[in-house]
Amino acid sequence: MTRIALVGAGRIGTHHARTIAREVEGLDLVLLADPLAPRLDDLAAELGVPAITRDSSGTVSADVDAVVITSPAARHVELIEACAAAGRHVFTEKPLALTVADAERAASAAGEAGIILQIGFNRRFVEAWASAARAVRAGSVGSVQRIGSLTRDPGPFTADPARIAPATIFNETLIHDFDTLNWLNAGSEPVEVYALAEALIRPDAEDSGFRDSAVVTIRYDNGALATAEASFCAMYGYDLRGEVLGSRGMVQMGEPTSSGARLFTAAGKSVATAGTDTSRYHAAYRDELRVFARAIAGEDVDYPGAADGVRAQRIAAAAIRSAAENRPVTIEEVSR
Ligand SMILES: NC(=O)c1ccc[n+]([C@@H]2O[C@H](COP(=O)([O-])OP(=O)(O)OC[C@H]3O[C@@H](n4cnc5c(N)ncnc54)[C@H](O)[C@@H]3O)[C@@H](O)[C@H]2O)c1
Repeated sequence: MTRIALVGAGRIGTHHARTIAREVEGLDLVLLADPLAPRLDDLAAELGVPAITRDSSGTVSADVDAVVITSPAARHVELIEACAAAGRHVFTEKPLALTVADAERAASAAGEAGIILQIGFNRRFVEAWASAARAVRAGSVGSVQRIGSLTRDPGPFTADPARIAPATIFNETLIHDFDTLNWLNAGSEPVEVYALAEALIRPDAEDSGFRDSAVVTIRYDNGALATAEASFCAMYGYDLRGEVLGSRGMVQMGEPTSSGARLFTAAGKSVATAGTDTSRYHAAYRDELRVFARAIAGEDVDYPGAADGVRAQRIAAAAIRSAAENRPVTIEEVSR
């Protein structure tokens, strides 16, 4: 049994902790760490986790084999480096880092230490996306020409823009789409990026640099053209979709619905829309952690690793610069 610690028991950390404790064989959650989470004791008691700590660096010196990092993004790199130095395997929530240089540092630390470093790009584990990727790899759509990916968070948008870093829409939301596009266009590299970003939901916060809506185009070296789109507020619920168009066909993924049922009444036809990421896609969050357990156990499994984190980070960096300077930015420019 792999002894595991989880660092950062906020929204996604709490979900991952519950999933590990209840639904992932092979992982024994023995420590929860969070400097601030008010109900850390309650979560430990609920899940039967024997220890908690307010010192996140304590997880690395603790007697564990692996660490799940679900702290804020700005803390990922330092925790990954500490885990690597201590020889602990890591599952880190996305993004790997907030800059290309930091992402490369984290990847090097993991590579030199020989640890497993899995990134929480859970969209790869959603059944429709996994099937689509298999179909693309099998050649069912032919050579890839257009790829699209979108992420819309459920509304209403109630967060305080002042507490959200300006590049969050690229570094933390679209990073999923950037990885998805790279993964669906496997074997090709992104070359050039053009991004537009606006504060359409909270225009009053625009002057502070806050952006809540973005569209990104990416040109790949196999000629494929990709688009990624994100919004912080879809009033109908959580919405993920994707599409690959190739020379022989097309594959589509995602429906912003939580049920296949269609209700017909005098008012017309309706479907239930999806609530949140963790309610709609729980199985994907569970399956990525099951794969982490299997990777640690030595099984040959596919997972998004450090190199994937760095590749997605380069697109994010190019998109951030492109939106700021209103011009296409090459991946080479952000890789120097
Ligand atoms: N894969 C996904 O779909 C998904 C969904 C949500 C969030 N995330 C990612 O997960 C991470 C956390 O997001 P969240 O929404 O849970 O945030 P959150 O703010 O709800 O939780 C973060 C937690 O980390 C704690 N924390 C603060 N500083 C820390 C430190 N130095 N060490 C350890 N813990 C610390 C905070 O007290 C808080 O409890 C982010 O990187 C985010 O992008 C991924």
